[in-house]
Amino acid sequence: MTTPFPTVRPRRLRRSEALRSLVRETRVTADDLIQPVFVEEGIDAPQPISSMPGVFRVPESRLADEVRAIAADGVKAILLFGVSHHKDATGSDSLSPDGLMARSVRIAKAACPEMVVITDNCFCEYTDHGHCGVLADGGVDNDATLENLALQAVVAAEAGADIVAPSAMMDGQIAAMRHALDAAGFGEVPIMAYSSKFASSFYGPFRAAAGSSLKGDRKTYQMDPMNAREALRESDLDEAEGADFLMVKPALAYLDVLAGLRCRSLLPLVAYQVSGEYAMIKFAAAAGAIDEARAVAETLGAIKRAGADLIITYYARQVARGEF
Ligand code: PBG
Repeated sequence: MTTPFPTVRPRRLRRSEALRSLVRETRVTADDLIQPVFVEEGIDAPQPISSMPGVFRVPESRLADEVRAIAADGVKAILLFGVSHHKDATGSDSLSPDGLMARSVRIAKAACPEMVVITDNCFCEYTDHGHCGVLADGGVDNDATLENLALQAVVAAEAGADIVAPSAMMDGQIAAMRHALDAAGFGEVPIMAYSSKFASSFYGPFRAAAGSSLKGDRKTYQMDPMNAREALRESDLDEAEGADFLMVKPALAYLDVLAGLRCRSLLPLVAYQVSGEYAMIKFAAAAGAIDEARAVAETLGAIKRAGADLIITYYARQVARGEF
């Protein structure tokens, strides 16, 4: 049997950092990154989140300064999450033009008009039961929730949101929001669909961060982590309903889904490196088990390599500042 060796030697291209840099296939830059921001009403001081070292709930009164600081770091897009003190059965605060979601958007856009402000369109941060929609017969009522999602999208757009990002995993949510936005004169506002969002253990720290009151789980609406074909089907449906971006969430445990979707859709793809992925790196690094900077570069690089154009990550600011 003939072998290309010793004529062919892949190590030739790895001999120096300059050479490695020349042949590097994937790069992560600040342009690729979206920073999540937790905004809490009714507090004066930033609240640390113990399961996410380095991440804070930002008081609403300090949001303007925070957004300017994020822009100064070089991040161009933020994803807003509200930590509500006005929860009820339907999450009605998020449907009010004076509610926390709408106020946060207005504050962020006023502080920094060039910042791309994205709203997480869901109800779990605004309902007293912690589910992502309206309850009926012990479950989440899909079609009743669609009406509220449509309204919430319009309220966010009226407040100045640049992109709306539905994460409730209700069937038909993209069509419902697109229709409502168009009817209200917001035909230009894009929808970033959390198209394949899995019922994942990796959201654990987020639920503490967002003050979620959920008892139970979201398995009747978020996807089974074992299903990749179904994720492509969900993504196809969202694209057909008019999504402008598709998202895979979480990221690292679902790179096969991302790679499959990259072969299938021409839309911009987003991956969400979620709270538990952040916590895994942070705590492993704190224990001295791994090097944080290298783990961040490697995981974000892997997510791009698998096919993501954009990454939502709690590390966005640090990457933009050039720390990794
Ligand atoms: C709201 C929402 C969640 C996350 C983003 N949007 C929580 C959930 O679905 O339970 C998780 C983000 C993270 O873990 O970083 N539906």
